[in-house]
Amino acid sequence: MNDTTTREIVTLQSHILAQQAKNPQSTGTLSWILSALSISAKVIADHVRRARLADVLGKAGAENVQGEEQQKLDVISNDVLMRVLGGREGVAIVASEENEEPVIIRSDTEGEQRYCVLFDPLDGSSNLDVCGSVGTIFSILRYDRRAASPEESLLQPGDVQVAAGYILYGPSTVFCLSMGEGVDMFVLDISVGAFLRVEQGLRIPTASKNYSVNEGNRLGFPEGYQRYLDWAQQNGYSSRYAGAMVADVHRTLLKGGVFMYPPTVKAPNGKLRLMYEANPMAMLIEQAGGKALAGRADDGSEQRILALQPKDIHERCPVVLGSPDEVDHVTRHL
Ligand code: AHG
Ligand code: MN
Ligand code: MN
Repeated sequence: MNDTTTREIVTLQSHILAQQAKNPQSTGTLSWILSALSISAKVIADHVRRARLADVLGKAGAENVQGEEQQKLDVISNDVLMRVLGGREGVAIVASEENEEPVIIRSDTEGEQRYCVLFDPLDGSSNLDVCGSVGTIFSILRYDRRAASPEESLLQPGDVQVAAGYILYGPSTVFCLSMGEGVDMFVLDISVGAFLRVEQGLRIPTASKNYSVNEGNRLGFPEGYQRYLDWAQQNGYSSRYAGAMVADVHRTLLKGGVFMYPPTVKAPNGKLRLMYEANPMAMLIEQAGGKALAGRADDGSEQRILALQPKDIHERCPVVLGSPDEVDHVTRHL
């Protein structure tokens, strides 16, 4: 039996409209942007599913701004998001991992509130060739017309994100979203053609003996992280690492544990990008009751990812996020 016959059916679309209705001042602009993300996700999911058959696996033959080799599907996914978001009235600026410069779509100085959308169109793209999970990550900020330049309008700390989320293209396509009031989860029902809500107000487990990190880099980590790994291994922890942030964070959100990308000798700020990888994931994790840190600040206090002031849209930061108790176990070793 198809469980749409027994379960309450709430689509992502109706969920967003219901959220919007709670705020009498809302104009519906943000809802349109989220609907653009949902359409893009369905198109990208289809490309990912058919990748081998459509012969779009492999390298695109170019490098992105990070000097990383682009896969054909990185380019396709970026193009889908750019085109769908570009057509939405409410979008002022779009910034992507795959574009060195942000794309200014509308930079008018008056009128209704517009938004900036930052995204990693395809996260974990090296997993594609082996049919592993990949994802899309996005962050939505208010467009600040008072900023000195449109680009500068983007450089806002994660704490002021209006909404953030990810789409996981795995055995099913999962959309996790936060609009600042908890985290809700939707699964794409292909027969219906819509994301259906499967979980509301998701909470991350407080503790769970799992860590997720690329241990091949261990000798390049600062000593504190190495001491944590010694401690975890002496205390019966399991290790899980997909090599795609969306897949690793999704597992951490549902099952608990800690996901990390620490600094390394080669990459002193880690590998993950603050504005379209770390910030959106940190918002989801905090909204689900977890902790998301970039390590310790110079004064020894815990550095929340969401409190970092970005200086560049492509900057990187160390990431330690997950169950509150598990993040604490890491920080007490740092
Ligand atoms: P992207 O495919 O968008 O460049 O991101 C890859 C990232 C992230 O998904 C993952 O957590 C990390 O790279 C894995 O890096 P390592 O291979 O260095 O572990
Ligand atoms: Mn990524
Ligand atoms: Mn990517």
